[in-house]
Amino acid sequence: MGDSSQMLANIFEQPSVAERCLAMDLPMPPLPDVDRVIFSACGTSRHAGMVGRSWWQTLLQIPAHLEDAADGYPVQVPPKSLIYLLSQSGQTRDVIDVAQRFPTAPKWGITNGSKTRLHELASYTLQTHAGEEKAVAATKTFLGQLLLLLRVALAWHDRANRNVPQTIVLQSKIAQIPQQIQTTLNQTEVACQQVAQKLVAADRLILLGSGINTAIALEGALKLKETVYLHAEGLSSGDFMHGPIAIIESGFPVITIAIPGSATYDKTITEAKRVKSYGAYLIGITTESAVYDADLFDAVLPITDIDELLSPLLTVIPLQLVAYYMAKNRGLAIDAPRNLTKFIG
Ligand code: F6R
Repeated sequence: MGDSSQMLANIFEQPSVAERCLAMDLPMPPLPDVDRVIFSACGTSRHAGMVGRSWWQTLLQIPAHLEDAADGYPVQVPPKSLIYLLSQSGQTRDVIDVAQRFPTAPKWGITNGSKTRLHELASYTLQTHAGEEKAVAATKTFLGQLLLLLRVALAWHDRANRNVPQTIVLQSKIAQIPQQIQTTLNQTEVACQQVAQKLVAADRLILLGSGINTAIALEGALKLKETVYLHAEGLSSGDFMHGPIAIIESGFPVITIAIPGSATYDKTITEAKRVKSYGAYLIGITTESAVYDADLFDAVLPITDIDELLSPLLTVIPLQLVAYYMAKNRGLAIDAPRNLTKFIG
């Protein structure tokens, strides 16, 4: 590493954050009598909520929704809903407003602080134990949120005897996550430096994901906007075909996340070929043993092999690193971007 940036240190702390999140005691309260979960959060925490929504839908087969707490539009909370509030700081005004608007609805929370406003308003609040995140851009706290969401989903599955076959298989794989994060950091850092160099003059970037990784495309775009001030847009690869693809011209940089074994892999690859055929400079985030046409990607940011449902824990890493190295190449104030302040819980 050889660098004093807090953001880079936070990115590289993620294997130990994962170890702590998997080792910590997880006292599960009685499950609330609900038939849906509504995640509500802002910014990076909202992207964690998008992944949480996919996990509740697939691992628990419980209807799950996501509300943008910052939008100001009144969140709709039908009876028998659990409101799940995610906030690194546990203090974000918009999130606290949502909690206060529904005093009688059951509310759970995840935060990185220990005595936050969220603790006062939610009946069950878990702390990510990611450690203080000094860089403004959230990286390790995002990972902590994902891991606690995953652990709660798995614990809920067992407590409710849901017996979803896919979830039972996944249970046996989570112990490997810290090592997989470490391996991915080792495997992908040099490629991220090269891509950051290649994009040194880029002033725009499209990030594409699909399924559970659409959230990561959005999160990557947010990291690039806040640390590099780059006009980056994240969206689903499928949706990109419905109009936005017109933006592509020769050399337009696009990063696409394609995880083999996912229901959307073949479709994503077909879409990637289309994007490439219009001249995009195409960067792939995919697993080390993925098979694809040799001329599809101009650059690859590899992650270690992983089940698609767990892959957001890894696919976000190269995007964090590309954002960091691009900001570094441009001489920007990586840990304290302009126009932003950070609450720490
Ligand atoms: C991005 C970032 C912000 C926060 C958002 C919500 O890196 O940090 O988008 O995620 O302001 O903050 P919390 O999670 O404290 O509610």
